[in-house]
Amino acid sequence: MLILGIETSCDETAAAILTTPRTLLANVVYSQIIHQKYGGVVPELASREHIKRLVGVVDESLTRAGQQLSDIEGIAVTYGPGLVGALLVGLTFAKSLAQAANKPFIGINHIEGHIFSNYLESPECRPPFVALVVSGGHSSLFHVRAWGDYRLLGKTRDDAPGEAFDKVAKILGLSYPGGPAIQKAAENGNPKFFRFPRATMGKDSYEFSFSGLKTAVALYIKDKAPEFIREHLADICASFQESVCDILARKAIAACRDLRLERLSISGGVAMNKRLREMVEERADGIKVFKPSPLLCTDNAAMIAAAGGWHLERGERSPLNLNAVPYLQL
Ligand code: KG4
Ligand code: ZN
Repeated sequence: MLILGIETSCDETAAAILTTPRTLLANVVYSQIIHQKYGGVVPELASREHIKRLVGVVDESLTRAGQQLSDIEGIAVTYGPGLVGALLVGLTFAKSLAQAANKPFIGINHIEGHIFSNYLESPECRPPFVALVVSGGHSSLFHVRAWGDYRLLGKTRDDAPGEAFDKVAKILGLSYPGGPAIQKAAENGNPKFFRFPRATMGKDSYEFSFSGLKTAVALYIKDKAPEFIREHLADICASFQESVCDILARKAIAACRDLRLERLSISGGVAMNKRLREMVEERADGIKVFKPSPLLCTDNAAMIAAAGGWHLERGERSPLNLNAVPYLQL
C-alpha cells in the first residue's frame, strides 16, 4: 500500500510517503525555527507555522517520491498526543484530503508512531519486546506484546527527559532545543564531576521523575560564581546527562530482564543522545537494542506512515469526525 503520513503534533511539520511495510520513498521534515528565540515551543506560533508550511511539505514529499496524490492508497495522520492547535492543522488537512480524494484514512497515536520508527528500519525488531519512548513530551516504558498491543509499564510522573534537557539548557544559558546543545557541551566533560540525583521511584518501579533533577541542577549552580560555571560547563552538562541516561538505561534494561525479553527498542528525540545509546549498549549483555537513525528519532511522518500502513492493511479506518486528543494515551 502506498501511504501518505502527516505529522504536526508539536514543532515539526512533516510528511512522508511509504510503500508498506518498510520502503520509505520520501521523508520531509520542516523543523520550525521560529521557537528558538523563545527558548521553547510557543503553541500558537506552532499552529500558524503548520498552516503556512503543510501544503508545501506534502507537495515536496510527493515530488521526492515521484508520486501523484491519485497514486496514494491511504492517509495516516497523528491525532494525539500533542498541542491541540498543532494537531488540528494536520488532522483537518488529512481528513479533507481523504474526503476530497476518496482515500482510506486513519488517525495514529504519536507514541505508537515513535515505536514504529524501529519497525521501519529493523524487521528484526519484532514483538515481544520492551519499548522506551523518550522525547520532549513523553517518557514511557512499554511491553509490546504484539504490534498494536502495548502494555504501559511506567511513565514519568512529571517532566519528560527531553523537557529536562530543554529546561536545564535554559538554566545554563544554552540554546533550544536543549538535548543537542547539552550533548555537545558535554563532549569533553567529566560525567563524574558531580553526582546529580537519580530518582528511582522505589525498587522495581518503572516510573520516572525528572523535575527533581532539573531543580538539583538549578540549586547546584545557584551559589556558584559565573566563572566557575563557565569553566565547568562541560562537566556540569556531562554530569546531568549521565544522570538522565543512567536512569533511562537502568529501567529499560531492568524491564527486559524482569519480563525475560531479549529485544529493546529505544525511540523519540532523546534516543538521539549518544551517551544514552552507548550506555544502553554497554549494559545490554545479550539484549538486542534497536535505535532509529537520527532523522527517525525526532518527530517525523515516516513513523506515522509506517504505523498507519500497518493498521490500514488490517482494514482499520478512522471516522472523518475523528477529533484531536491532546492527552491521548497509548
Ligand atoms: O521526539 P521529539 O522530536 O518531540 C517530541 O515528541 O517531544 O523530541 C524532542 C526532544 C527535545 O526535548 C530535545 O531536547 C530532545 O528531544 N533531544 C535530545 C537530543 N536531541 C533531541 N535530548 C538529548 N540528547 C539529544 N541529542
Ligand atoms: Zn515525538
